[in-house]
Amino acid sequence: MNEFSLEGKNALITGGGRGIGRAIALTFAEAGANVALTARTMNQLEDVADEIHSIGKRSLAFQADISNADSVREMVAGVINEFGVIDILVNNAGISTTPFSDPLSDAAWHQVIETNLSGPFYCCRAVAEGMKSRHSGSIINISSISGAMATGGSVAYNSSKAALNMMTKVLAMEWASYNISVNAIGPGWFETDMSKNSLKTPEQRAKAKEGIPMGRLTDLRDLGLLAVYLASPAAEWMTGQVIYLDGGETGAFL
Ligand SMILES: NC(=O)c1ccc[n+]([C@@H]2O[C@H](COP(=O)([O-])OP(=O)(O)OC[C@H]3O[C@@H](n4cnc5c(N)ncnc54)[C@H](OP(=O)(O)O)[C@@H]3O)[C@@H](O)[C@H]2O)c1
Repeated sequence: MNEFSLEGKNALITGGGRGIGRAIALTFAEAGANVALTARTMNQLEDVADEIHSIGKRSLAFQADISNADSVREMVAGVINEFGVIDILVNNAGISTTPFSDPLSDAAWHQVIETNLSGPFYCCRAVAEGMKSRHSGSIINISSISGAMATGGSVAYNSSKAALNMMTKVLAMEWASYNISVNAIGPGWFETDMSKNSLKTPEQRAKAKEGIPMGRLTDLRDLGLLAVYLASPAAEWMTGQVIYLDGGETGAFL
């Protein structure tokens, strides 16, 4: 099953300090990749980097704010300086509107759009140069079922993810001739710091499960396994796709 191996590949994962990014980072390392991690909270990145070292792979913790184009340029240059090349980019870092007291405020709109949409754009642009010159690369954008389903209370978040899906498809078209694949994963409900306030009470959990045809939540590792596939040689001919991993939740919509 060598087609599923990431042996010898170098990956950069944004938001790799916790939650979904951490899970993808650890699964990548198990599949053989060296993994650079980036976020704003350095101690979380260092903890995950230690976990990756204990799996026997190289890791690098790099502090950066993906909503800032200069910070992204510096981050990509820093990772290339250490690793030589970046074969795989996972645009995972993101924020929701939950922490904002007014989800319709300028601050909520701009911070969510700049983090969830401009951030992945800056990162794609920064890694593409090297990928184009090597005629090889995989980019995975972590979107959401919220990019496909309208839900109340989070206009900036849903809009950012819907636009990220379109960005995925357009960049996939533009870079296909360079043999760069660009795909997205749309997770349903996963238990992380981001979702914990919506899954706190038994009533909230029951309501979330009601919307999932499989009637249950699942492990973060499932996302890591899908990301491994998309980053591996097995998925070389797959590009421009948004794959939902959601226990069937988007099934009625798409
Ligand atoms: N959990 C779910 O149910 C769910 C469902 C669908 C989609 N998603 C998506 O999955 C992705 C990961 O979410 P999660 O649930 O794992 O959330 P999380 O636990 O809050 O993790 C988010 C990560 O992104 C980083 N981050 C946020 N803003 C950043 C910035 N400006 N620059 C660099 N890093 C930044 C955070 O680190 P710092 O704060 O230290 O920077 C953290 O490492 C997000 O794109 C989210 O929209 C999650």
